[in-house]
Amino acid sequence: MKTDLQLILKPFILFIFLSSLSFIAFLSLQPPHQSPPTTAAPDRLPSDLRIRPGYSSYDAYLQRQLNKTLDPKLRQIWTTRDWDRKVTVFSAFFDNLKTRGLLSNGSRSLCIGARVGQEVAALKRVGVSDSVGIDLVPYPPLVIKGDFHHQPFDDRSFDFEFSNVFDHALYPWKFVGEIERTLRPGGICVLHVLVSKRADKYSANDLYSVKPLEEMFKKSELVELRGIDGFGLDTEVVFRKNKT
Ligand SMILES: C[S@@+](CC[C@H](N)C(=O)[O-])C[C@H]1O[C@@H](n2cnc3c(N)ncnc32)[C@H](O)[C@@H]1O
Repeated sequence: MKTDLQLILKPFILFIFLSSLSFIAFLSLQPPHQSPPTTAAPDRLPSDLRIRPGYSSYDAYLQRQLNKTLDPKLRQIWTTRDWDRKVTVFSAFFDNLKTRGLLSNGSRSLCIGARVGQEVAALKRVGVSDSVGIDLVPYPPLVIKGDFHHQPFDDRSFDFEFSNVFDHALYPWKFVGEIERTLRPGGICVLHVLVSKRADKYSANDLYSVKPLEEMFKKSELVELRGIDGFGLDTEVVFRKNKT
């Protein structure tokens, strides 16, 4: 014969069990986390970094970038005559990073400002198959549409991020903040930059030393720095995002 206590407890236990199930289901339906993008400008810009004047609005900046990226004749050249030469040079850079233990075939990788995706093709060529690029203009399947000031990815999405377009950032602190947001802890960011000399006419900033990068990568440490010859850029900077 059931006691009074058993009669009361049974529905209570069933209630707790069903509530836990619905809570677990609720948690599993939550979207992956995306922190708000880094929006705040620093109180002062590092002295070795200058933003070029002359952009009356963000739209004016985007339009200037798009003028070149959308040029049909240039796109034809980038995807034909230039293709192999650039993929070969990028492949050598990525092979070198693999040898130095900074990139592996299992690294989920992002190329920022990848235009028609030669660097993405190079990553795939050296065996890093889970690779994608972002640019203002998509070039599927290698490059999807995305603004590097507000990357279209969740926090901690990538093991490795590469970019040779730091000089195109109108808001360099956002460019860096978004890399640190979307890299997983311990992830690697490799930037190819031009130091000291004036970059091209589509650049939005000028960098006179690597110190500003070290200041802006607040959640990472500089792990390697070397001179390179990479399509007019002279310095390779490698940051590792802190584990905590
Ligand atoms: C000098 S090109 C470099 C292209 C490519 N990385 C390469 O080496 O062939 C600069 C690229 O940055 C892209 N870009 C400029 N501003 C951007 C932004 N805010 N977000 C994403 N891409 C941007 C341009 O559309 C252009 O394709």
